[in-house]
Amino acid sequence: MASIGIVGTGFVADYYMRSLATLPDVTIAGAWDIDLDRLHAFRKFWRVPAAQSLDDLIGRRPDLILNLTNPGSHYAISLACLEAGLAVYSEKPLATRLDDARHLHAVATQKGLMLASAPCSILGESAQTVWKALRDRLIGTPRLVYAEIDDGFLIRAPHDRWRSESGAPWPVQDELAVGCALQHAGYYLTWLIAMFGSVTRVAAASAEVLGLVLADGSAAAPTYACASLFLESGVVARLTCSVVAPHDHTMRIFGDDGILEVAECWSNDAPVRVRRRHVLRRRLVDSPLARRLRLGGATHPKVGRKGATAMNFALGPQEMLAARAEGRTSRLDADLALHLTEVVLAIQSAGDGTGHQVITSRAGAVAPMPWAAG
Ligand SMILES: NC(=O)c1ccc[n+]([C@@H]2O[C@H](COP(=O)([O-])OP(=O)(O)OC[C@H]3O[C@@H](n4cnc5c(N)ncnc54)[C@H](O)[C@@H]3O)[C@@H](O)[C@H]2O)c1
Repeated sequence: MASIGIVGTGFVADYYMRSLATLPDVTIAGAWDIDLDRLHAFRKFWRVPAAQSLDDLIGRRPDLILNLTNPGSHYAISLACLEAGLAVYSEKPLATRLDDARHLHAVATQKGLMLASAPCSILGESAQTVWKALRDRLIGTPRLVYAEIDDGFLIRAPHDRWRSESGAPWPVQDELAVGCALQHAGYYLTWLIAMFGSVTRVAAASAEVLGLVLADGSAAAPTYACASLFLESGVVARLTCSVVAPHDHTMRIFGDDGILEVAECWSNDAPVRVRRRHVLRRRLVDSPLARRLRLGGATHPKVGRKGATAMNFALGPQEMLAARAEGRTSRLDADLALHLTEVVLAIQSAGDGTGHQVITSRAGAVAPMPWAAG
């Protein structure tokens, strides 16, 4: 039986509790939040033990800490846990400053501790189906990727009515302060890195296009960002994030022999389709019919749809615990988390005049899941 300690019991922590329920042999050693009312509501709803402080939680020596605090707290909480000798799975981003992310990576490496960050959807069925189709060369050589993570005109959405299961409000101010690229680019970026290797160069632009002023008087982070990403395999990807354009989470991979399509990155089992090209008389046409690809057999443990997402948030923690039990490296590791953070920060902070940026960190090769490897 593996034990987990939770720091931060807000909106996303409820998704984690539903997701953790899909895993056998996991117990909650304790949960901690600086907001004691929130901690109490969470403890009561999920019937889990509350810790008295972060030190109290660390003292319970869980096998893994889930850092589910707001991004501004990620660095300090993860550092305290690593320094106390505990493995950490952090919600994204690993840190909001690159130097802080590098420091966490260095501490984890020096202490021989596992450190990883969300998202973990690369371990789910949709991503693994796309990846297997690429390995099976269903579209021949992949050349170009278009990935969209547009979330609709967020500020006019009824977000004040969005509540998690145990009653946490959706933290709109924090989301706008942190920024849509830092919050969301990772959902497709992790897939791209696993499938096509590390990002070596980024040419990006970002802007706050809504003229927002946050409740504390500060300016919002960019509400739009778009990047061309140059990947080690030679594939180039264009990734767009916004909280302005209508909801669109599609990714298309264009290859010599066809197109791979997935419609959603916030569902682990969104359909994956392949579309062929045909020559009809003197025209090249993309087939109006796309064939759905299925892996067959059991894939990842499923959670039901909750709110905007049908993701199993526990796939990352599960992978880390399995790696530890099996004495192997985790598919999600500190190198991947640092690389992801460097690329996402490069996209979000590009502004209107940065131009081309060289990425210095590298992720190691990620192995496909055994149920998709064949
Ligand atoms: N809201 C979503 O839909 C969503 C989805 C996926 C991932 N995430 C990620 O999850 C993380 C948390 O987001 P959220 O939506 O749950 O935010 P939230 O504000 O609802 O919850 C965060 C909780 O962390 C607590 N906290 C902050 N600093 C702390 C500290 N130093 N010590 C202890 N507790 C602390 C806060 O009191 C709060 O209860 C973020 O990294 C976010 O990117 C959020």
